[in-house]
Amino acid sequence: MILLGVNIDHCATVRQARYRHEPTTVGGAVEPDPVSLAVIAERAGADGITVHLREDRRHIQERDVARLRECIQTRLNLEMACTPGMIEYATKLKPDSVCLVPENRSEITTEGGLDVVAQKDRVKRCVESMTAAGIKTSLFIDPDDAQIELAAELKSPWIELHTGAYANAYFTSRRAVEFERLRKGAARAHGLGLTVNAGHGINYVNIAEIRTVANLHELNIGHSIISRALFTGIEEAVREMKLRMNA
Ligand code: PXP
Repeated sequence: MILLGVNIDHCATVRQARYRHEPTTVGGAVEPDPVSLAVIAERAGADGITVHLREDRRHIQERDVARLRECIQTRLNLEMACTPGMIEYATKLKPDSVCLVPENRSEITTEGGLDVVAQKDRVKRCVESMTAAGIKTSLFIDPDDAQIELAAELKSPWIELHTGAYANAYFTSRRAVEFERLRKGAARAHGLGLTVNAGHGINYVNIAEIRTVANLHELNIGHSIISRALFTGIEEAVREMKLRMNA
């Protein structure tokens, strides 16, 4: 069975669009509350909750993360940049896992995989710090052999394969090529002993094919679930995705 990590960043995006200048993140008229959403998502079958505490704090805030750490009963997966400040923050917070992602201030959401090859020493230090703190590390990487092999060499227990290129190519002639990259990447990573997660751009349509990639442990899905929840509520949105993931 493939597990589902629900990324709730976009719930916070909606709140920040109206209330970013409020001194509080919850209560009074301030809504929607991503922590309440996370708790209901868990009740509907989410196996974990994912948030990305960005350097620019454009959606999830530190207070949300602290409340999540106290309230949720599944697993907290913290996506973060590979910086000394975030390493210190994660070491104190103790999420169940961290997923190292690249961060670029101008992007709307995470655009490409982490280039582990180009920043080997930096990523190595981060993996070591997290391991010493008892936190599992995942590296958000493109399905390229060089990145996957280095993730294994650095002893990151997990990787998250970036499914964005596949999702963008879904209605084009490149879809089969991108799918094959994912399939081969997952097989290579599994062969090296890595736990293979995937995420970015996964929706209620492309999940039918994504779920056929062998050796997937968990999918991290945000935008499509939060969007669907506007119409059906978060419980139904999570249930429907889990059904489609494990049809
Ligand atoms: N995984 C990672 C590492 C991400 O940064 C994101 C958000 O960009 C997601 C998964 C979820 O992507 P989406 O919102 O497109 O489902």
